[in-house]
Amino acid sequence: MKQQINCIWLLLLTSFLSSCSLGDEKETVIINSIQLENSILSLSKQATGLRVPWDLQYDHVNQAILFSEIGGSIRRLDIRTKRVSLVDSIKEVYHQRTLGLLGMSLYQSEHEQAYLFLSYTSKRDSLIFSNLYRYDYSTDGRLSNPKRLLEIPGNTGHNGSRVIVSTDKKVYWATGDAASDTFAQDSSSLNGKILRLNLDGTIPSDNPIANSYVYAWGFRNMQGLTHSEKGIIYTSEHGDAIEDEVNLIQPLKNYGWPQIEGMIDTEKEKAIAKLSPRTEPIKSWTPVVAPSGMAYYGVATIPEWQNSLILTTLKNQSLRILKLSADGKKITNEKVLFKDQLGRLRSVLVLPNGDIYFCSSNRDWNPQKGFPKPDDDVIYRLRLSDKALTPILKPQTANSIVPAVKNGQTLYDSYCTSCHKSDGKGLTNTFPPLAQSTMVNGEPKALLKLLLHGLNGQSINGVKYEGAMPAFSFLKDEEVIAVANYIRTHFGNNATKINQQNLTSLR
Ligand code: HEC
Repeated sequence: MKQQINCIWLLLLTSFLSSCSLGDEKETVIINSIQLENSILSLSKQATGLRVPWDLQYDHVNQAILFSEIGGSIRRLDIRTKRVSLVDSIKEVYHQRTLGLLGMSLYQSEHEQAYLFLSYTSKRDSLIFSNLYRYDYSTDGRLSNPKRLLEIPGNTGHNGSRVIVSTDKKVYWATGDAASDTFAQDSSSLNGKILRLNLDGTIPSDNPIANSYVYAWGFRNMQGLTHSEKGIIYTSEHGDAIEDEVNLIQPLKNYGWPQIEGMIDTEKEKAIAKLSPRTEPIKSWTPVVAPSGMAYYGVATIPEWQNSLILTTLKNQSLRILKLSADGKKITNEKVLFKDQLGRLRSVLVLPNGDIYFCSSNRDWNPQKGFPKPDDDVIYRLRLSDKALTPILKPQTANSIVPAVKNGQTLYDSYCTSCHKSDGKGLTNTFPPLAQSTMVNGEPKALLKLLLHGLNGQSINGVKYEGAMPAFSFLKDEEVIAVANYIRTHFGNNATKINQQNLTSLR
């Protein structure tokens, strides 16, 4: 009897679920309405319970969103039914921290074989590599016939990467510098570059350097890559402690890393740029926002956003709308949405009908305070709507979310929290705790020196940390002192305060 009742419940439940799965606006739960100047948008969840989706692609033949997950699987979200299914999992993927299955690009053109280009990390013996693969993509969305187009050196960090096929039918691969001091400025290395390939992996005859994949150089760790309908290519890139960037990519230009960080604005950088020309970003951020996936919005569906770059950010936990000038060469305005509301955002995709899909990355190696939520990670959809439902959000201006007062606490929040966390506890084996640290509570000069010049490859209490501590010499004297005193008097620390005299001679 009990079993029978269970069966009836199950039947009711499945019919309820399938009636919901039509996925049209009526049955979609709107989390927020967004009020732009004239348009109203609605935000909804399209898929939940994912594991670090890294790239989103649109399969127009099967009306689906194809997405990669960092662990190695490629899955499909059916746009109409919202059903998620597995396409394939790539066994060779080596996943650890920021390494794994990363960017991908789906190339579907009429009367031609469709391809899926994949970028992922692998490990052989003790060596790490970044790979670019091409798979055949069948009309019903299955993968076959893998072909490795390139294999380049990788590392435990700084492996990029994104891949696109632009309007010229060429493949562009944004590679990381593999944490090397020399690769990005070495034109014979394929790391820290934008590489340009034919669809079959050969070198295009019109590449700027004969017989070389290198198209542009001088990059650190690019996390976003997109192109406009005119074929203008844009990247987003992680700086070190300062100057995250958006770049407009042109052939043979040198974007400066590691000699130049962001804008050419220090005396040292100006001297280098005088000797040989370097290209500045069209946008830079300090404090850093950790820009990630980026998509060009070219359609007129949301008129306010037409001709913009839509950018996801990780550390800053927001979606940014970067309005471009008519010629696409400048960013004229920046708006911020969902700040701290959805957590870390990884990737974004614009559909031809103007719908925007983007995903969270709250189950990755560096979760922020309050995340992951039970249904993370999530693929969200932003869509033009005809009615506003509460709660209504309005985009913020970028300036309004940067704290005006620079005391120890706000400096710590801007520059240190993303790694050492707001409670100073750090992240096991990745970022050391500042609570009860001998260094933090010890001799002032040693601490100030570390803050000014950074730290790499040290063992702290027997733990060897994988990342590096960036240098904070760009902060003013009083700011270094304020943040040093903040960490000396919080998280249970109770050390004496440092005064400014200690800083003289350490710079
Ligand atoms: C990108 C991540 C990152 C950021 C941002 C960062 N740190 Fe660190 N920090 C590290 C890592 C990694 C180490 C360990 C480096 C090593 O062992 O070589 C470290 C080490 C330290 C140490 C030494 C701890 C000990 O017990 O020896 C202090 C102090 C410190 N950081 C303070 C700060 C302060 C203050 C800020 C902000 C102004 C900051 N860090 C920003 C990653 C970061």
